[in-house]
Amino acid sequence: MSTVHRSIKTAIPAPGTEEILASLDCYESRSMHGQFPLIWDRAVDASVFDIAGNCWIDFTSTIFVANVGHSNARVTAAIQGMMDAPIYSCYAYPNRKRAEYLQRLLEFAGKPFEKAFLLSAGTEATEAALKLMRMQGQKLGKRRLGIVCIEGNWHGRTMGAQMMSSNLAQRDWIGFQDADIHHIPFPYPWALNAATPEAFLEAGLERLATSGVDLDMDVCGFMLETFQGWGAVFYPKEFVQAIEKVCRKHSILLAFDEMQAGFGRTGRRFGYQHYEVTPDLIACGKGMGGGVPLSGVMGRAEVMDLPDTGNMSSTHSANPLVCAAGLAVIEELEQRDLVGEAARKGELLFKGLTALQQRFPDRISDVLGKGLIAAVLFRTPDTGAADSAFTSLVAERCMQKGLLVVHTGRESIKIGPPLTIADQALLEGIDVLGEAIAEVAAE
Ligand SMILES: Cc1ncc(COP(=O)(O)O)c(C=O)c1O
Repeated sequence: MSTVHRSIKTAIPAPGTEEILASLDCYESRSMHGQFPLIWDRAVDASVFDIAGNCWIDFTSTIFVANVGHSNARVTAAIQGMMDAPIYSCYAYPNRKRAEYLQRLLEFAGKPFEKAFLLSAGTEATEAALKLMRMQGQKLGKRRLGIVCIEGNWHGRTMGAQMMSSNLAQRDWIGFQDADIHHIPFPYPWALNAATPEAFLEAGLERLATSGVDLDMDVCGFMLETFQGWGAVFYPKEFVQAIEKVCRKHSILLAFDEMQAGFGRTGRRFGYQHYEVTPDLIACGKGMGGGVPLSGVMGRAEVMDLPDTGNMSSTHSANPLVCAAGLAVIEELEQRDLVGEAARKGELLFKGLTALQQRFPDRISDVLGKGLIAAVLFRTPDTGAADSAFTSLVAERCMQKGLLVVHTGRESIKIGPPLTIADQALLEGIDVLGEAIAEVAAE
C-alpha cells in the first residue's frame, strides 16, 4: 500500500522488529512497553519511518511533543550550534543561551508571567507548581497546604503529581494520600445533568466544606489540567471562570497543567486562554522543547521567587542545549504562525471527524477537543456503553494502514498531529480512520 503520505511495504511487525522488541523485553522494565510493534527509525515533520522503510502519517506528535514537526530543521540547527560551540551542559552556571531563551519564553507567554523555572520532565514542572502554591500558602498562614484538583485529571508519575492525579490504581504504591490534596468532580458534558457549570462547581466545593476544608484557612491552590487528557475534554468556560473567582476571593493560586495544551496545540499559545482567565502559574513541557527534554513553570515574580537560592534547581535545569532547542521552537511557532495554523487545521480536523460521527452514529458517541487536539469516543451499538475493545481494534487497524493515532487504552482515540502537518496528510489520515472504523465494525 502506498500513497503520497503513507507506505506500508512489509507485514507489520516488519522484518527485524521482533529481535529489537525481544532485546527490550529482556533488558528494560516492562513498564515502558505495550506500544504497537514498530521500531521508529526516522521521523520527519508529520511522517514516521520504521527500520524497513514503512512510512506512517503521524497523528501523535510523540504524545504532543513534536508540535513544530519531527526533526524540525530550525531545532536541529540550534542543537547542532550548541554542539559545535561546544557546550552541552553547565549545571546551574549562567549561560548566554539560557538568558536569551528565558527572555524570549516570557515574551511568548505574555502577561501575567514574569519569571520561569526550567526543568526536564513534565512531572517535575507540576510538582514545582505544587511546591510554589504551598510556599505561597505558608506565607499567608500555616494551615494553608490544601490543593484542590479535579477528578479524572492527570499530572505525572512522581509522588506529588500522582497524588494530584486521581488515578487511584496508579498511586497504590504510595501507600497513603496526602490529606491536603483534595479532588472535586470534573464537569463532563454527560455529568452536568442540566446543572449550570457554576452550580456544579458549587456542589463540588460544598462536598469539600462538608469534609472540613475551609477555603480561606486551608487551601493555597487549584490545579487544573487544561483539558482532561484521555478524552481531550475541556471544561465549560463558566466552570473555570467560577474557579478563578473563588481563587481571587480566598487568595488562592490558580495553576494550569499545560503539558498537552501548551505551545500552540489548541490553536492558542496556551490552552487556558480559551477560558479567558488569568492563571497564577502554568506548568509546561512536551511541545516546549520540540523533542528534547524541556519543561518549566511560569508565574509572577512574587511567587516564582518564593524558594531561596538553590531550593528550586536541578542538574539539568536550563541546560544550554535544551534552551537552544526551546528558543528555536518559539521562533518556529512565531515565524510560521503555527498557532494560527493549528486553529485553521483544527477546523478541517473537526469537520472531518464530525462527518465520521455522522457516518458511524452507533459507534462514535463524542468528538471532543479544540485546535489540533481531538478525541473520538467509541461506544457499543447496542447499549451505548463505552467500548474500549472496539477502540483498541480501530487504533491497531489504523496502524496497519499507515496511520499512527494515540491509543489511550480507554474508549478514546486521541489525535494530535504536528501543527506543521500538510492539509492533504491531515485529510488522508481522517479518511484512514474512517476506513479502519468501517472495517472493524464489519468484522
Ligand atoms: C497533563 C500532563 N501532565 C503531566 C505529564 C507528565 O509529563 P512527563 O511525562 O514529561 O513527566 C503529562 C504527560 O503525559 C501530561 O499529559
